[in-house]
Amino acid sequence: MLRVAGRPQGDLEDRHSGFCAFPRIAPRLRALRYLVQHLAMTQDKHGCHSDISARAAEILADLRRHTVIAEDDRVTALDESHMMYLLELGLERRPARVLEIGLGWGFSASAIQRLGCVTSHVIVEIEQGSPRALQGERNVRATATARDALQFLWGDSSVILPGLYASGQQFDLTLIDGGHRFDDVFVDFHFSRRMATARGVVLMDDMWMPSVRTVASWIETNLSAQWTRLRTPPEASICAWEYLGTADRRSWDQFTPFEVATCRPMQDRD
Ligand SMILES: C[S@@+](CC[C@H](N)C(=O)[O-])C[C@H]1O[C@@H](n2cnc3c(N)ncnc32)[C@H](O)[C@@H]1O
Repeated sequence: MLRVAGRPQGDLEDRHSGFCAFPRIAPRLRALRYLVQHLAMTQDKHGCHSDISARAAEILADLRRHTVIAEDDRVTALDESHMMYLLELGLERRPARVLEIGLGWGFSASAIQRLGCVTSHVIVEIEQGSPRALQGERNVRATATARDALQFLWGDSSVILPGLYASGQQFDLTLIDGGHRFDDVFVDFHFSRRMATARGVVLMDDMWMPSVRTVASWIETNLSAQWTRLRTPPEASICAWEYLGTADRRSWDQFTPFEVATCRPMQDRD
């Protein structure tokens, strides 16, 4: 299992990193960067994080057995490779305060509960009372290790998040997996980043969707002084950002035009 958390990803940044200003050394720098990344990954394969990976796999196997998900709606829940990523990241970083946007079947929420370090877990979900939301809440409550720490906030995240922000809430880990239109994801990130603690992480699922990739490309090109992208497994369509803790010093009218990265898998990228 690869170590997946904690290193800059850098798959979107090539076009913006200035490499193109030095055409002759660019390929060497790029090769060096991939060598460093590969060495880090190889080291992990040889066992440095095997305890975390083993624990994550154990939790996932248990959740697979106990989480009730309608067969015809499995795609709604985080897929298993993303669950492994979430669990490994959580076991490594030990977040205390977690925000989740989108309950679904409560698969990811159950995983977060099973980390064993969470003292506050806020879940925002628009579909109050739907069969899925009811079962999702049951799933999470059944696995909860910190029941008092669980808080379900029912409603549209674009209405709930401003209230959380206004009340001064802060989170070490945020999972954005609610509405998937561009404006939903942008607004969710807009508030999530304001509530992130220094070194806090924001995850966004479904990077295969142009809407989500557009937000990711904007962060990469317009917020790189504050947010760095973390490494995710090559095949995964989840992305992770770490807040560097630096103040937002952009000018009032700052906007860096950007291209939206295509959906090529990591190993195909130059
Ligand atoms: C893909 S599912 C989340 C799956 C969950 N991460 C899991 O692993 O089980 C997305 C959820 O977000 C909810 N949702 C969609 N738009 C929302 C919004 N604007 N505010 C809050 N929740 C929203 C949907 O009702 C759905 O339950």
